[in-house]
Amino acid sequence: MKTILRIDSSARHEGSHSRTLGDYFEKQWLSKNPDAKLLSRDLASRPIEHIQQDTITGFYTPPEQLTDGLIRATALSDELINELQAADTLLITVPLYNFSIPSSLKAWIDQVSRIGHTFSYDGERFQGLVKTKRAYIICAYGSSGYLPGNTLASANFLQPYLQFVLNFLGIQAVHFFSLEGASSDEATIATNVAHVKSTIDQSVSA
Ligand SMILES: Cc1cc2nc3c(=O)[nH]c(=O)nc-3n(C[C@H](O)[C@H](O)[C@H](O)COP(=O)(O)O)c2cc1C
Repeated sequence: MKTILRIDSSARHEGSHSRTLGDYFEKQWLSKNPDAKLLSRDLASRPIEHIQQDTITGFYTPPEQLTDGLIRATALSDELINELQAADTLLITVPLYNFSIPSSLKAWIDQVSRIGHTFSYDGERFQGLVKTKRAYIICAYGSSGYLPGNTLASANFLQPYLQFVLNFLGIQAVHFFSLEGASSDEATIATNVAHVKSTIDQSVSA
């Protein structure tokens, strides 16, 4: 059975364009994959704890040497990694905050990026260990011009970062759907939303 893990990271529930487009993607994708299982994580409603000293110690301690305290300190990471590894498809909805991803999503990435679990290193090369095959990323940008070749492309630390870190963890196919001008007037937003929806339709039916 296919499993999709959806992660929402906007601090907003009302008026969030990334979440609304995520709902649209989810509906379209589930209609194409009616038997699929949906797992969800709302990083605003249930914030992920930042990694701490004990979490890092636990990450670098061999499993058989983990103390009760270190097991507790890495339990959330275990849970999030198990959830990710159970999913063949990942859907992330993400706003641009100060030219990058929200800290809520960075906290999730810090918990799931773990040596021996989601990546390995043999002294020369890193290898991703995540089994998830593809990720769909729905981004909302307040202004326009962030996409490759445009005026603000060099200020876009969201798309290149997520592309790199997800590839690093082993997710080979990463597809972006970008709503630009989300802070513009209503007519511009409506045009841009319609465009993103049509690219979602094409992608889901491909
Ligand atoms: C804390 C914060 C920081 C933001 N930083 C940027 C930014 O750097 N560049 C930009 O174009 N828009 C920025 N915006 C606007 C958001 O990207 C835009 O409102 C987007 O629609 C938010 O996603 P959401 O609608 O899913 O909540 C920021 C908004 C907030 C709340």
